[in-house]
Amino acid sequence: MGNPLFATKSMDTLMQEAGDTGEHSLKRVLGPVNLITLGIGAIIGAGIFVLTGSAASLYAGPAIMLSYVLAGVGCAFAGLCYAEFASLIPIAGSAYTYGYATLGEIIAWIIGWDLILEYAFGAATVASGWSSTLVAFLQDYGINLPPQICDVPGAHWVFVDGRWVPVATTSLTSAQVLSLPHATSSFNLIAFLAVLAVTTILIVGIKESANFNTTIVFVKLTAVVTFIAVSAVFVSRHAAVAHANWSVFIPPNTGSFGSYGWSGILRGAGVVFFAYIGFDAVSTAAQEARNPQKDMPVGILGSLAVCTVLYIIVCGLLTATVHYSRLNIGAPVSLAIRETGVKWGSYVVNAGALAGLSTVMLVMLLGQSRVFYSMAHDGLLWKWAGDIHPRFRTPWKSTAIVGLCVAIVAALVPIGDLGQLVSIGTLLAFVIVCAGVWILRVRRPELKRPFRTPWVPVVPILGIIVSLGLMAGLKGLTWLRLIVWLVIGMVIYFTYSVKHSRVRHPELRGK
Ligand code: ALA
Repeated sequence: MGNPLFATKSMDTLMQEAGDTGEHSLKRVLGPVNLITLGIGAIIGAGIFVLTGSAASLYAGPAIMLSYVLAGVGCAFAGLCYAEFASLIPIAGSAYTYGYATLGEIIAWIIGWDLILEYAFGAATVASGWSSTLVAFLQDYGINLPPQICDVPGAHWVFVDGRWVPVATTSLTSAQVLSLPHATSSFNLIAFLAVLAVTTILIVGIKESANFNTTIVFVKLTAVVTFIAVSAVFVSRHAAVAHANWSVFIPPNTGSFGSYGWSGILRGAGVVFFAYIGFDAVSTAAQEARNPQKDMPVGILGSLAVCTVLYIIVCGLLTATVHYSRLNIGAPVSLAIRETGVKWGSYVVNAGALAGLSTVMLVMLLGQSRVFYSMAHDGLLWKWAGDIHPRFRTPWKSTAIVGLCVAIVAALVPIGDLGQLVSIGTLLAFVIVCAGVWILRVRRPELKRPFRTPWVPVVPILGIIVSLGLMAGLKGLTWLRLIVWLVIGMVIYFTYSVKHSRVRHPELRGK
């Protein structure tokens, strides 16, 4: 026997587990439409509604469209690799399971632990964004929530122009702040409750969760399409405005890397990559798909394709309607639609953004609990994390614990650097999945693959290069945090998982 650290889970065991039914298994109820909407539910969120504005304003100008094309192409390489695995190994754990089948237990553990950064921290990041979107949304109707419950402890807020806003988003001096009503926040109760509400839906059932998601995705797509229609009419009627805003498509580089020019487009791609995160979450629901061999690739690639096209159109119209220099604000899409003068449009866009962020939380938390479920099932995490509720048929204990931890993180931790940690965690998963597809093609060429990634190994290699390139662009501190996180994971692996692994100790199976 080789080194047990690199023991792999056999494809035959995986295939057998994928076929399990019965009250202790997940329920196979999701069809292709559910899966595409699950993907769109996870993808469209804070990235397009919030980050696009600052990325255009600070890095790329109107050429933010090219940043979106670049990040979209990078995701397409990874998406094609996910599609092959998800149809071949329709098990809940996504990249973790693919790693176990190809690269060995310790790599699988690393990737499972790393996925927490993507899904759990991703949900926490979006929950904070959801709370600020709700605050702004209610203020449009003249309702001000008390700032003490809308932000992390210690954040300073000030009451200006009839609205409570975080001091950090204003250009007021300390003396000006002191002369106005001001307050310090103590706990982001809004984000906390939002995560708990989504967790409750997830516990009640996968079909209920998918239906909730499909309804909300419809609302958010309506918002995006409304923005496209209203701003397209505006641009066609005010061609001179659009012309002026687009007169310099790629603003010249200011002399420092990433500040406009081609390097700015690259940096912009690194930032808006966040907007694409989520298509891979579809693969965590593989064990709940009715016909995963056929529908998994449709769900992953379909949702990615729809969102890429919408994103490119939205940022083209956004920068044509409003000059990019004015877009470094919290709600750029909302500003652009207000500029068109269509008032009802701005209500639709704000409601869509709010709805949009709630499904991102839903699908991220779904993904997290399914990864824990798979790891517990393999004995790498505590057994309770894999317990299925006999009536709801969901992994209710891991969903509840994950939900509570994410709610606490969202209520207490500032989101600033969380977003970058989410991106680095996701990119690492992409690298391992791309490498895994290639390795399995070499080791097990005979396996019947319902979906085949085209041009292997070119596509996986390009996926690895683009992901590593985007990782290289992230801050040194983010890398340090990733390493600390992985070291904590190693401690758990060597103190618990090696003793309980079902692959190392087959006699523990079923216990
Ligand atoms: N893609 C997701 C978002 O933009 C994470 O919110």
